[in-house]
Amino acid sequence: MSKRHLTLGIESSCDETAIAVLADGRELLSNVISSQIKIHEEYGGVVPEIASRHHLKNLPFVLDQALAEAGVNLDEIAEIGVTAGPGLAGALLMGTAFAKAAAMAAGKPLIGVHHIQGHILANLLEHPELEPPFLSLVISGGHTLLVEVLGYNEFKVLGTTRDDAVGEAYDKVARVIGLGYPGGPKIDRLAKEGDPHAIEFKRVYLEPGSLDFSFSGTKTGVINYLHSAEQRGEHPKAADVAASFQEAVLEVLVNKTMSALDTTGYSGVAMAGGVSSNSALREKMRAACEARGAKLWIPSPVFCTDNGAMIAMAAYKKAQLGIYSDLHLDVWPGLDLETGLHKLNAGYPAH
Ligand code: KG4
Ligand code: ZN
Repeated sequence: MSKRHLTLGIESSCDETAIAVLADGRELLSNVISSQIKIHEEYGGVVPEIASRHHLKNLPFVLDQALAEAGVNLDEIAEIGVTAGPGLAGALLMGTAFAKAAAMAAGKPLIGVHHIQGHILANLLEHPELEPPFLSLVISGGHTLLVEVLGYNEFKVLGTTRDDAVGEAYDKVARVIGLGYPGGPKIDRLAKEGDPHAIEFKRVYLEPGSLDFSFSGTKTGVINYLHSAEQRGEHPKAADVAASFQEAVLEVLVNKTMSALDTTGYSGVAMAGGVSSNSALREKMRAACEARGAKLWIPSPVFCTDNGAMIAMAAYKKAQLGIYSDLHLDVWPGLDLETGLHKLNAGYPAH
């Protein structure tokens, strides 16, 4: 038997079926990600019912591979972490049902994890020195948050989006430009060939001092711009549109993050979520942080988008705090990061 403390992390909240094995909260032994992008690409976005079916089919194989790559058995695992929300209800149900079955079969404790908590704690995979409290900017397909990380299982939301999440705006703009799904990485690539100042799209800052976000105006600006160009018989360069849209969005993200550093007094920020893998954003945020002597933590791209390693890390931290779930663990598609974490705890009644 291994003397190491092994944590299994299971993620299935959207379109990736992912399982990882983490040793002693430090060493990643495996991180298997089975992406459904190719399947959903055909439909131009994630189809929830199809996502659930693929999770159901893939989970046993992904687990086998994660254990095999780590060279361990389920018996040797200390605890099983699983995303219990937020996310697509059916997709979450597949992961939690599977995790419960594994926990019951192997007699292991179960730990429900908040998906965003996982994204934030992904930073610890490469930066174990990062300790709460710290500031985090969470930017994914479903979330745009400035968060104070008060503890590994305690968060205070400083700002959130009032309409679209950043990743959602990227995906919608990519669709109107004709790039297809998933839009973020495609805009990232195309923008490198375009002029970011070709078109001045709207930057929305809301009320002075607000750390909330709004991206639907910028997105609609792109759609309207393309419609009127079409009516005039013009064909703007897609790369210029992509670069200009991205410039508008990233400027707001960077400036709001700097304002959050000003108001909270934290010495640095940890980025999290799929959009954190954006190459232009990584450069801009680095430059802005360097200019003011602030620290910046950004996970490697593979740990920014959905993965099992981040869930394993969060489960490991919860285990250290003695916070476990039980087999009544429910799924919570809209689970709140600041006020909802107790719903995952053992003893909380199921729906
Ligand atoms: O964190 P994530 O994998 O899943 C959610 O929890 O939502 O984030 C997915 C989002 C998608 O909207 C995707 O288009 C966006 O992250 N994304 C990017 C990049 N890579 C992924 N957005 C901009 N630039 C990228 N390189
Ligand atoms: Zn995610």
